[in-house]
Amino acid sequence: MFTRFFKENESNSELTEELDEKNIPQHIAIIMDGNGRWAQKKHLPRIAGHRQGMDVVRDITKAASGLGVKVLTLYAFSTENWKRPTDEVDFLMALPVRFFNNFVPELIENNVRVNVMGYKDQLPPKTQQAVANAIEQTAKCTGMVLNFALNYGSRAEIITAVQNLAEKAQKGQLTPSEITEDVLSNAMMTANLAPYSDPDLLIRTSGEERISNFLLWQIAYSEFVFTDVLWPDYKPNDFVMDIVKYQQRNRRFGGLKEENNK
Ligand code: IPE
Ligand code: IPE
Ligand code: MG
Repeated sequence: MFTRFFKENESNSELTEELDEKNIPQHIAIIMDGNGRWAQKKHLPRIAGHRQGMDVVRDITKAASGLGVKVLTLYAFSTENWKRPTDEVDFLMALPVRFFNNFVPELIENNVRVNVMGYKDQLPPKTQQAVANAIEQTAKCTGMVLNFALNYGSRAEIITAVQNLAEKAQKGQLTPSEITEDVLSNAMMTANLAPYSDPDLLIRTSGEERISNFLLWQIAYSEFVFTDVLWPDYKPNDFVMDIVKYQQRNRRFGGLKEENNK
């Protein structure tokens, strides 16, 4: 029964028994939300939540890689997050430096390749350097892709893609009728994740049920799981439970359930 998975006293091993290892979402995207509220609850400054969240990134990355996920996309900083106080923005910009300094060796051990999508040229030089180093150091890893969305916004992404296509059209390299779903997909920041460009599962932590300008084009047929757990409290066990919820869903893509399709 569905409710089984929510019993507080259920052990990890029982939970993983419920997991269908043959039906792991290939691309999982996560809106890591609730760091500030986690800190506030503990009477700590908001940045304490971001610091704790960094360790959760490490744990969930390992869990995802162990489960055989192909791409894990993590929303780390949106194009709208610049609106926050300078101190918080500065801390968030320093986090990738810290994260990669601490964890690149472990990522390599786990055969995880780092990818970063977003307007990287607007990041502080030190952040850009840390990102470039991590990408280079993990370039030969052939396992899961850990894809950070950093200074990413979906509307900006779509505008950039459309501008690039318009330029090609202006140069006579493309006609309007040649602009198909594939062509637009290939102009998005997720193009290099093909064949896993579109998430199968989108998770948002912290109880908020909105998309906040994340992957608007790519989530057309993603399954959504919203969990109340705040990101700094999110455990591999919660992650497995959310994948189990995904496995309960019936993805139809506009068609019919398989058994009705005969
Ligand atoms: C998510 O946590 C991290 C970022 C957006 C960078 P928040 O900082 O948004 O935490 P809340 O939503 O204020 O609790
Ligand atoms: C979305 O969270 C962005 C990231 C998780 C990086 P926000 O906390 O910025 O989103 P809103 O403001 O609640 O919509
Ligand atoms: Mg938030």
